[in-house]
Amino acid sequence: MASLVLGVLGTLTGYLLYSFAETGVLWVKALHIVFVTSWFAGLFYLPRIYVNLAMVPEGDEGESERNRLLLMSHKLYRFMTPLMMLALVFGLWLWLGFGVGMPAQGNGWMHAKLLIVLVLLGYHHVLGRQLKRFKAEANTHNHVWYRWFNELPVLLLFAAVILVVVKPF
Ligand code: HEM
Repeated sequence: MASLVLGVLGTLTGYLLYSFAETGVLWVKALHIVFVTSWFAGLFYLPRIYVNLAMVPEGDEGESERNRLLLMSHKLYRFMTPLMMLALVFGLWLWLGFGVGMPAQGNGWMHAKLLIVLVLLGYHHVLGRQLKRFKAEANTHNHVWYRWFNELPVLLLFAAVILVVVKPF
């Protein structure tokens, strides 16, 4: 019985290693797209919560709503940070591991995309800093500011996807 189980496990492992050797880049790209999409769900939704937080009346009147929105923001930020890291790990694996987007010559799209990724990382960091400020009741921006702030990831997503799919330069 044990040798049968070992045989099946061995065959399965062999098949997975073979199929990964053959189609690994596609598995990694699929996971990259899944985690990029999940990260963006947070990048779109968290600033929207901040729009509402910035409209909550100060003092006791808004306390329960403020606490509810703060808890939602805290959980969402904690959830979307590992998703960001996984999106980056699989993206770097595609670029540095499989060499997609290499060499630098003729792959200007990859450098422009990396610039956008740096801006997105900065945006993610600002979301965390603003969360700390809301928790300390030290937020200085109003809901209109957050509505404009909320539009930036939309523009960055458009640019990054067009660069990586169309590869215009
Ligand atoms: C360190 C960060 C990142 C690196 C190194 C990276 C690298 C790559 C590479 C090398 C590919 C394969 C391109 C190809 O097959 O032609 C790719 C695919 C892709 N990346 Fe990224 N990426 C990163 C972050 C992102 C971000 C933040 C987004 C979204 C805004 C994104 C969206 C995509 C999409 C949609 C694809 C699939 C394109 C296709 O199927 O043709 N990536 N990425």
